[in-house]
Amino acid sequence: MKETKEGYPFLMACRRKPTPYTPIWLMRQAGRYMKEYRGLRKKYSFLEMCKSPELVAKVTLLPIEKFKLDAAIIFSDILIPLEPMGVEFEFAKGEGPVFHHPVREMKDVQRLRVIEPEEETSFLMRAIQIVRKELEGKVPLIGFSGAPFTLASYIIEGGHSNNYVLTKGIMYQNRAAWNALMEKISEVLIRYLNAQIRAGVQALQLFDSWAGCLSPADYEEYVLPYSKKVIDGVNKSVPLIHFATSNSTLLELMRRAGGDVIGVDWRVDIGEAWARLGYDVAVQGNLDPVILFGPVSLIEKEVKRILGRVEGRPGHIFNLGHGILPNTPVDHVAALIDAVHQYSSK
Ligand code: CP3
Repeated sequence: MKETKEGYPFLMACRRKPTPYTPIWLMRQAGRYMKEYRGLRKKYSFLEMCKSPELVAKVTLLPIEKFKLDAAIIFSDILIPLEPMGVEFEFAKGEGPVFHHPVREMKDVQRLRVIEPEEETSFLMRAIQIVRKELEGKVPLIGFSGAPFTLASYIIEGGHSNNYVLTKGIMYQNRAAWNALMEKISEVLIRYLNAQIRAGVQALQLFDSWAGCLSPADYEEYVLPYSKKVIDGVNKSVPLIHFATSNSTLLELMRRAGGDVIGVDWRVDIGEAWARLGYDVAVQGNLDPVILFGPVSLIEKEVKRILGRVEGRPGHIFNLGHGILPNTPVDHVAALIDAVHQYSSK
C-alpha cells in the first residue's frame, strides 16, 4: 500500500498515530511458500542468497511485488552476525543451523569477536541501500536482528533446542561466562542495528523467538538487562518492534526492556495483552500462521475477531504470531491482506 500524505501507515501505527486502515506485513514474508523463492533456492544455498546484495534485494522485493503489504523486511537471518563473531555454522539439509564449535565456557566466550558490521556484513548494508531505492514512495523497509537470549541459545546449544538445558546450565551455573557472553552479543547487536539504520532501514524488529522458554523471574534476572541494553543503545530515529513467541507471561517484562511495539503470538488474547502492556505502546501480531491453511471464510472470521479485540485503537500492526509456514497457499495470503485492509478501513 502506498505512502499517504501523512506518511506510511506502518510507520504511523508504530508511533500509535491513527491510520486510514490497519497496516499488515508477515514475518518470513519472503520464503518457501513462494514459488519464485523456491526457484532461486534451486540455484543458490540459503547463505549464498543472504550474502549477495543483489539476491537479498530481489528476494526482499518478491512479496512486495506480489501482495499489497504495508512493509518490506530485509531478507537475511538472525544468525548472520554470528559468523564474523567467530561462530561458524552451516544449514544442514532438513536440520536447520548446526554450529561445529559451540560456546560452553569462559574461554569460548573470550575468543568471540565484536564485529565491525559495515565491513564484515557489508553485503547486508549494501542490500539495504539497493532496496531502499527500489521501495521509495511504496513501503518502508524493516531491518532486524535476533535478541541476545535467542542468539546465545544457538551459540551454546549448537543449533535448535527443545529444552535449553545447556543454555540454562551456563545461565544458572556459570554466571560469569553467561554475563560475558550476553555483554558481547549485546555490543555486537547495538553496532549491527545502528549500522542497518545508517544504511537506510526505517524500522527494526528484535526477534527473541525462544525467550518464552524462560520463567518470568529468570527472564528478568538473566535476559531483560541485556535486551534493554540493546534497545537503549539503538538510535531512536526509527521505531523498534520487540517480539517473542510464547511471551504471554513475559509481556510486562518485555515492555520494561523496551520497544515502541510489542509483538505477540496467538497463544494470548491480543485485547488482554494490550490492556496489560498499556495503551502507550503499540502491538503487533496475533494470527496463528496455521489459520492461513484454512478456508478463506476462516481467515476472514479470524481477521474480524482480532480487529474486534483491538477496538480500532491506533497502534495495531496486523501480522502472524510467528513466521509464515512453508506450503501456505499463496492465494490465502492475498485474501488475508485484503480482509485486513477491507475490514479495518475507516
Ligand atoms: O521475515 C522475513 O521474511 C525476513 C527473513 C528472515 C529469515 N529468518 C529467513 C529465513 C527472518 C527475519 C528470519 C529470522 C530467524 N531466523 C529467526 C527468528 C524468527 C523466528 O522464526 O522465530 C530464527 C530463529 C532464525 C534461524 C533460522 N533460520 C532457522 C532455525 C532456520 C531453519 C529452519 C527453517 O525455518 O528453515 C532458518 C532458515 C531460514 N531463515 C529460511 C528463511 C527464508 C529458510 C531457508 C531455506 O531453506 O530456504
